[in-house]
Amino acid sequence: MSRIWTSITGTGAALPGRAVSNAELALQLAERGVETSDEWIVSRTGIRQRYLADPSLTTSALGASAARAALEAAGVQAAALDLIVLATSTPDQIFPSTACLVQDELGAGGAAAFDVQAVCSGFVYGLAIADAMIRTGVYRRALVIGAEIFSRILDWSDRTTCVLFGDGAGAVVLEAAETPGILGARLHADGSQSRILCTAGRVTQGAVQGDPFLRMDGQAVFKLAVNVLDSSAREVMADAQLGIEAIDWLIPHQANVRILSATARKLGVPEGKVILTVDQHGNTSAASVPLALDLAVRDGRVRPGQHVLLQGVGGGFTWGSVLVRF
Ligand code: ACO
Repeated sequence: MSRIWTSITGTGAALPGRAVSNAELALQLAERGVETSDEWIVSRTGIRQRYLADPSLTTSALGASAARAALEAAGVQAAALDLIVLATSTPDQIFPSTACLVQDELGAGGAAAFDVQAVCSGFVYGLAIADAMIRTGVYRRALVIGAEIFSRILDWSDRTTCVLFGDGAGAVVLEAAETPGILGARLHADGSQSRILCTAGRVTQGAVQGDPFLRMDGQAVFKLAVNVLDSSAREVMADAQLGIEAIDWLIPHQANVRILSATARKLGVPEGKVILTVDQHGNTSAASVPLALDLAVRDGRVRPGQHVLLQGVGGGFTWGSVLVRF
C-alpha cells in the first residue's frame, strides 16, 4: 500500500473590525492615564497596528469566517470534513469547545471537533495532530483553525502587554494525498516555565478566582523563544534530511520583529525569506501563523514545490515546527 501524506489544499483568514494604529491606541490609553507611543511600540516590537474585535464578536464566528475562506480556496464543502481542530486560548465559553460551535456554524455535522490549548503554539500543535490522523488513515479531510480574541484578556492599564496583541483567525484545509505535503512535525513543552506567560485566573463558584489578565515576563519570553525556535527548526529539518538552506519561507509565530530577526539570524535564514505580519496584525497568538501563511499564499510568495517552515512558540511554555512542501 502506498504511503499517505497530508497536503494543505486551502488557506483562509479573517480580521475583525478595523485596524487600530499605534497612535490611535496611544491616544485611547492616554485617556486612561497609560503612557505609550508609536515610537516605543515600533522600536521595541515592530508592531504598527492591530485589529480589535467589537464586544459582540465571538471567537467561533471569527474562526468560522477564516474556515469558510479556506474551504472555498480548497474547493471543499464543509459537509465533506472529517475533523475540525481549533486552536485558541480565548474560547467562546468553558465548554463545549469552540471547534464544536464552528462545526455547527459551518454545517459540518458529524465531523470530529475539538480545541487545542497550546497558546501561541496552538495552530502548529493542531496541524501536527491533524497530520498524524490523516497520515495514519483515520481521516481524509481536516480543517485546522487558529482563532483568538486576545483583546478580552488584556489588562488595558498594563502598557507592557496591552500594546502587543491583536485579534484574528486563520485556517487551513488538509487533505490526504499521494505526495507530500507535510514532511515533518515536532512539538515540545516545558511546564516549569508556565509563569513567564500566563492568564492564571479560573472560574470557581460563579466568580473569577485569581488574575483574569495576561501577564508576561517579556525578557524571559524573548530569550526562550529565540532558542526554542532555533532548536525545533533544526530538529524538523534534520528529520526531513534537508539543510536549513532548503527553507524557502520561514513563518514563525508573529510575536515581535526582534524575535523573528534574531531567530532568522541564529538559523542563518536570510531576512528576505521570513514572512512578516506582526507589523500589521500585532501578536494574534494561535492565529498568527495561519494568518501569515494565508497572506503569503494569496500574494503569490509561496509557490508549489517550495518548503515552508511553520513555527509556534508561546505560553506553557510550548513550541514546535511543521515543515510543509507546497
Ligand atoms: N510604552 C512605553 N514604555 C513602555 C511600554 C510601553 N508600551 N512598555 C514598557 N515600557 C517601559 C518600561 O516601563 C521600562 O521603563 P523603565 O526603564 O523606566 O522601567 C522600559 O519601557 C523598558 O521596559 P522593558 O520591559 O525592559 O522593555 P524591553 O526592551 O524588554 O521590551 C518587550 C519589552 C517588547 C515586551 C520585550 O521584552 C520583548 O520583546 N519580549 C518578548 C516577548 C513578546 O514579544 N511577547 C509577546 C507574547 S509571547 C509570545 O507570543 C511567545
